[in-house]
Amino acid sequence: MTKEKQVIETSEAQIAVHWQEEEYFHPSPTFIGQANLTDESVFERFSLDNFPDYYTEYAELLTWYKYWDEVFDASDAPCWKWFKGGLLNASYNCIDRHLKKNKNKTAIHFVPELETEPIQHITYQELYVRVNEFAALLRDYAQLKRGDRATIHMPMSAELAISMLACARLGVIHSVVFGGFSASACADRVVDSNSRVLITMDAYYRAGKLLDHKIVDDEACQISAEQGQKIDKMLIWQRYQGKISTKGPLIEGRDCIINQKLKHYYGKRIEPEKMLSEEPLFLMYTSGTTGKPKGCQHGTGGYLSYVTAMSKYIQDIHPEDVYWCMADIGWITGHSFIVYGPLALCASTVIYEGVPTYPDAGRCWRIAQDLDVNIFHTAPTAIRALRKVGPDEPAKYNYNFKHMTTVGEPIEPEVWKWYQKEVGKGKAVIVDTWWQTETGGFLCSTVPGISPMKPGSAGRGVPGIHPVIYDEDGNVLPPGSGKAGNICIKNPWPGALQTVWGNRKRFVDTYYARYCKNPDSKDWRDWPYLAGDAAVEAADGYFRILGRIDDVINVSGHRLGTKEIESAALTVLEVAEAAVVPVAHEIKGKEPDLYVALKPGFQASDEIAQRINDAICNQIGKIAKCRKVWIVPDMPKTRSGKIMRRVLGAISNHGDVGNVMTLANPEIVEEIKKMVG
Ligand code: PRX
Repeated sequence: MTKEKQVIETSEAQIAVHWQEEEYFHPSPTFIGQANLTDESVFERFSLDNFPDYYTEYAELLTWYKYWDEVFDASDAPCWKWFKGGLLNASYNCIDRHLKKNKNKTAIHFVPELETEPIQHITYQELYVRVNEFAALLRDYAQLKRGDRATIHMPMSAELAISMLACARLGVIHSVVFGGFSASACADRVVDSNSRVLITMDAYYRAGKLLDHKIVDDEACQISAEQGQKIDKMLIWQRYQGKISTKGPLIEGRDCIINQKLKHYYGKRIEPEKMLSEEPLFLMYTSGTTGKPKGCQHGTGGYLSYVTAMSKYIQDIHPEDVYWCMADIGWITGHSFIVYGPLALCASTVIYEGVPTYPDAGRCWRIAQDLDVNIFHTAPTAIRALRKVGPDEPAKYNYNFKHMTTVGEPIEPEVWKWYQKEVGKGKAVIVDTWWQTETGGFLCSTVPGISPMKPGSAGRGVPGIHPVIYDEDGNVLPPGSGKAGNICIKNPWPGALQTVWGNRKRFVDTYYARYCKNPDSKDWRDWPYLAGDAAVEAADGYFRILGRIDDVINVSGHRLGTKEIESAALTVLEVAEAAVVPVAHEIKGKEPDLYVALKPGFQASDEIAQRINDAICNQIGKIAKCRKVWIVPDMPKTRSGKIMRRVLGAISNHGDVGNVMTLANPEIVEEIKKMVG
């Protein structure tokens, strides 16, 4: 840990000490009366004394071709194996096993952004047919087989879920890239995963405009080819069947319009591959401390057991529920809680194409009313936006939520209370679920049918998860200490990433090395998992998450690596140095502010600033767009030449820059302060 970081952590701890405790809110008897989990003895059953066997309760929610030989295998620590030797298929568990009783039930409600277009209600039977036919195309036309990777770069659509499930049916490892990511971000992921097949869609609606998406992937193919990874087949779904909605040319031999090709696979049924529990189901890339995103590898049996259990016990999903998670499937929340979890439980899951506030502030509540959604799942950034544009809108609509989730970033108690009162109409329970791409499913949350809620706090570890807060030296910070530290999980759990794709060292270094007691140990007790978040534990054992401790900015609930943004800025010829800092933002939570110093001989100009921001949007995506690009004469630096991001952060947030006299160039601080105002 560098000194600079310690300073930041101290200030977070100070904030935490001054935080006031919030009152509890209790779940209603009506909710408890129907909840999936109300038996408090669950915490006893899931105590560390019973580790790892308690996790078989989760695995038993699935249908296995063959049960496991061993619940947990630690021989390759910390690459844990769950339900070793067991055989199953995720697509079978999400579709086939429901057909006998529920083939006519809606699996997916697809809601197009344009309200003039009808909602599509896809039954489990239809999902079965479409997944099978597409799997046949993937196998026979794209030549994909078990263990291969396929990259899926698609907007929110039923076809995105169908593509994932078709891959899972064949044992093909899918790597879904968020649809809003740029060609370059997509290409990086294609290259890292060695995908030779890219699945895309020609276009989609966003804020009322039909955006051409396929042209982004034409460029992605070009960039990945330059980096040595050729896309042999680009498979293109159509937003409007039978109509091409892209300006991009169809490249002979490479591009294939899926709807046309599917005719050849009419009626095909594909026997699901019997996957070993520990075989990977998918990769999901996430930002970390270095520029290159990490491919978090999730296994089939462990991941699916875990998300199914979380969906049942924390999301309280019953088969008769209509469940709407507003996240994008291109992030882990969408994987776990739009696709795999709800479908494994035979619920009806809503996929909405567009912007929650399009065409007006009532849109979400109309969708909820029309589909009779009763479980609603979103992020603080969306809640803040909905509160801002239409604080009184929810009351105008007649929907009934029994359960709501907040996820992805800390929620301010005031925003939580609006969510509870206005969106939940004072009736719905709320779970504040803290977790990560790496963790597959929840780590901390209240169990909605058992524990009271506390605004701004995630709660205790979910059943089976045993969190602990360590200080810098590895001492435990006990509940009620009022001090913030690094939140870790003491025990392994089935939803955790198995490794970083192709980089075991990075996996161990990032998540386990920090507090590992003995690197040669095969005992899980020696390997606490480092989440990379700062947190405080209140006297009642509830955890309040403060944010990342590494160089990651959480913008609208999305993790962006500061290094990624900085390296994009450095691709602009004139830029010599770049430093990104987070700035508080009313709706997004945080927003990046960029400071750059130019190479000698170049003059600052708006045009250069614009080119820098364009480079960031092109290389990462619009979500990484900086609030402001400050072109400064020099960066504040330590005598050893390190850029003092802490000082820049304080300036951007109009905070106290502290003592800067030890810097190599203290005078620059005043100059930058004047500039930023
Ligand atoms: O800092 C935490 C924050 O989001 C990070 C994980 O981001 P990502 O991998 O993109 O996954 C997002 C969906 C789980 C965490 O390290 N975070 C997530 N949930 C919460 C949160 N911060 C506070 N409260 C939460 N409920």
